[in-house]
Amino acid sequence: MIDKSTIARIQEAAQIVDVVSDFVTLKKRGVNYLGLCPFHDDRTPSFSVSPSKNICKCFSCGEGGTAVHFIMKHEQLSYYEALKYLAKKYNIEVKERELTNEEKMLESERESLFIINEFARTHFKSLLYDNQEGRTVGLTYFKERGFRDDIIKKFELGYALEQRNAFSTEALRLGYKKDFLLKTGLVAGGENDGPLYDRFRGRVIFPVHTLSGKVVAFGGRILRKADNLAKYVNSPESEIYSKSRELYGIFFAKRAVVKADNCFLVEGYTDVLSMHQAGIENVVSSSGTALTSGQIRLIRRFTQNMTVLYDGDDAGITAALRGIDLLLEEGMNVKVVLLPKGEDPDSFARKQNAESFNKFIADNAVDFIRFKTQLLLNETKDDPIKRAGLISNIVQSIALIPDGIKRSVYMKDSANLLEINEKLLIQEVNKIRKRSYNQRQQRSSQQRASLNSKKEQQAISESTDKEIKTPIPARRARIDNLEQEIIRYIVRYGMNFIFQRYEKQKRGNGKQTEEIDVLVEEGSTVIEFVYSDLERDNIKITNPLYSQIFEEAYRESENPDFQPAKYFMSHSDSSISKCATDMLNDKYQLSKIHAKSLGEEIDDEKSRLLEENLLEILIPRVTTELKNVYILKQIERVMRKIKEAERKNDFETTLKLLEEKRKLEEIKKILAKMLGEQVIIRY
Ligand code: CTP
Ligand code: MN
Repeated sequence: MIDKSTIARIQEAAQIVDVVSDFVTLKKRGVNYLGLCPFHDDRTPSFSVSPSKNICKCFSCGEGGTAVHFIMKHEQLSYYEALKYLAKKYNIEVKERELTNEEKMLESERESLFIINEFARTHFKSLLYDNQEGRTVGLTYFKERGFRDDIIKKFELGYALEQRNAFSTEALRLGYKKDFLLKTGLVAGGENDGPLYDRFRGRVIFPVHTLSGKVVAFGGRILRKADNLAKYVNSPESEIYSKSRELYGIFFAKRAVVKADNCFLVEGYTDVLSMHQAGIENVVSSSGTALTSGQIRLIRRFTQNMTVLYDGDDAGITAALRGIDLLLEEGMNVKVVLLPKGEDPDSFARKQNAESFNKFIADNAVDFIRFKTQLLLNETKDDPIKRAGLISNIVQSIALIPDGIKRSVYMKDSANLLEINEKLLIQEVNKIRKRSYNQRQQRSSQQRASLNSKKEQQAISESTDKEIKTPIPARRARIDNLEQEIIRYIVRYGMNFIFQRYEKQKRGNGKQTEEIDVLVEEGSTVIEFVYSDLERDNIKITNPLYSQIFEEAYRESENPDFQPAKYFMSHSDSSISKCATDMLNDKYQLSKIHAKSLGEEIDDEKSRLLEENLLEILIPRVTTELKNVYILKQIERVMRKIKEAERKNDFETTLKLLEEKRKLEEIKKILAKMLGEQVIIRY
């Protein structure tokens, strides 16, 4: 079994040109690559590979598809085996194991619960429109509240009949198992073969969709005010439903959230519906409770910005303050909008269109920390004791923000608002962060202590300290290897052009037209590319011998007739000529890879051709890899400095360094992505 996210990673990493090249010699033709089809007896190249679409296809026999398909067909593997093959090729770790019997049962149980929810959704939905009671009671209710048909249908709203067991009877009649019906929570009772009762009776139904649109739960709203009944009844937690991991509306909001780079948070089902109806779709509901970190992370996949909408009365304000600390802690940028007194998002959205609503938000959204500061400031006015409490309250919130730069901006702003010395605020925030840092350390060292004796522990922390201080020999060797690979390409292919682009153009007139390839992009030589790529990031070749070859190649390459292989092999400096000879005789990189994956050798000439064809991939990759090593090194350097600054209690330097570290981490992420995807980088 391979989990979905790993499959996605494998599919992302598997670049089609790279995958196919292990088996087919490809030549560049325009934006695509062309080779002999491995799936039929091909005489003229008809197998086309498109790096931009990441697929391959034979014009002649029609075979092809994604990298996974290609491997399945070529290696006669199952889908699952093909994924494993690719995972291995791209060093993606696959934690795979057989499902235990219990897990298999659980898996099929989950399936069964989903199937029943699927049935229930259709059941409730059709009752709303196709049943007498459903129409006169349920649909009328929605209509009286002003919901349009398109919104009712989009959110798959429904109705559950008044009858005690309408749903369970129908479900049993259709063969759904009692056991599973009970487990979804849609049905209760049934002990000792007693009767079943429906959870939802005489209520309008709101299905809760997951991020991918599956229904995991339902909410049912009562139609009239009744003191002895809860306004909403909701599905209980089940094998497939964990309330803290779902957010009402996320499935219908995700695209709009990305587009707006912002997500509105409201309290209830009907708030979400009304906002959609007003044309605002980037909205989710926490269903009346405070957000959990799981829910926040769900949103954070799409945006870091959250705007919380609340009623303008006291209860709304209290609610606005509640639970927002968690948002800050999770690194979200939080704004708050208080609606006019007496309005909730539902009632307010009814009176607005998207434009006027958005304008109101734009005019009234206040940064959360500011909001809180202002609010408490009004409350405490001139009471010095309350004021002290207020400062500590604000400081608590600011201390939660993970990003150092953001924190310092807030400290400045709040110091201004509170009219206190910024340094004082910094000190306070710093104190809290240190305290919670120490608590975390203590907790983790307690955990460690249970694993190791004190002595062992000390040894471990000392050795990691040392490791940071002394350059790691492995890294030195890695740099040397990469430099060697770069020089090898320069000696072998230094004057080859890469990233040249040709386009087919028609020439001639009337009957006699011919297609010819026209150069539309100059590209650059391998030497030029490597030189400028490394120079941009201020990276030098450190090995003296390689550095000498590199500089000399760059100088000589001004001459278009320069032949690096010949030139360096017959160099007067014997260490250079020996090095170049070794590099020219070195087994081809690709024949090694090929031999490994196929368990057989292919001849050198074929392999050289392969390598030469893939320079556009291989060369940017090796320079990127070199950059990656240097970034890792820099991150360690900054971490060392941070430790030092923290020891000296130098908060401002720490902040600066943290920001520097963050930037480096970002670069590291970009490089990792480039390496993972083997993107052809172009400048
Ligand atoms: N809620 C709940 N159970 C209740 C009350 C509320 O689960 N007994 C949840 C529902 O998800 C509801 C949200 O809390 O949508 C907000 O509650 P409320 O504002 O009372 O409900 P609205 O959705 O605004 O419903 P309406 O406008 O129909 O009164
Ligand atoms: Mn409401």
